[in-house]
Amino acid sequence: MSLLNILHYPDPRLRTKAKPVTQFGPELKQFGDDLLETMYAAPGIGLAATQVNVHQRIIAVDVSENRDEPYLLVNPELTLTGEQLESEEGCLSVPGIYEPVKRFEQIEVTAQDPMGNPMSFTANGLLAVCIQHECDHLDGKLFVDYLSSLKRTRIRKKLLKQQKASA
Ligand code: NI
Repeated sequence: MSLLNILHYPDPRLRTKAKPVTQFGPELKQFGDDLLETMYAAPGIGLAATQVNVHQRIIAVDVSENRDEPYLLVNPELTLTGEQLESEEGCLSVPGIYEPVKRFEQIEVTAQDPMGNPMSFTANGLLAVCIQHECDHLDGKLFVDYLSSLKRTRIRKKLLKQQKASA
């Protein structure tokens, strides 16, 4: 296992649209495990391949309190249902920033595991929010895109200042 380097906003590589995975197997499983490991170490509840500069459609998620319910979703497809609810979100690529974002409260998920086995399930609450957030990353979208441009500019400046200071 190895820890991967997480890209930080406004790094333009975070805007890359990820390609569907076509090669399944042990190598992809290894990458998925590294993605989970990196997410747990951060610590975070979700991490998309895009955030570690790998532009393939795979995300890692674990919203459980005991950090023992990992999901590795390959080529995830979402059907959004229910109401839209607002909740506070953060992102490992936008460190230290938390802002309210509206998401669907329930989603139907179809995906594959890293070995290519199909799966489908219904997700609610925080799990649904987190999966929607991570799937956005695969399309080059960040939660700050849902905020006002004034707020986004402020966040951008703040993070660039931090990045300069730690460089
Ligand atoms: Ni994120």
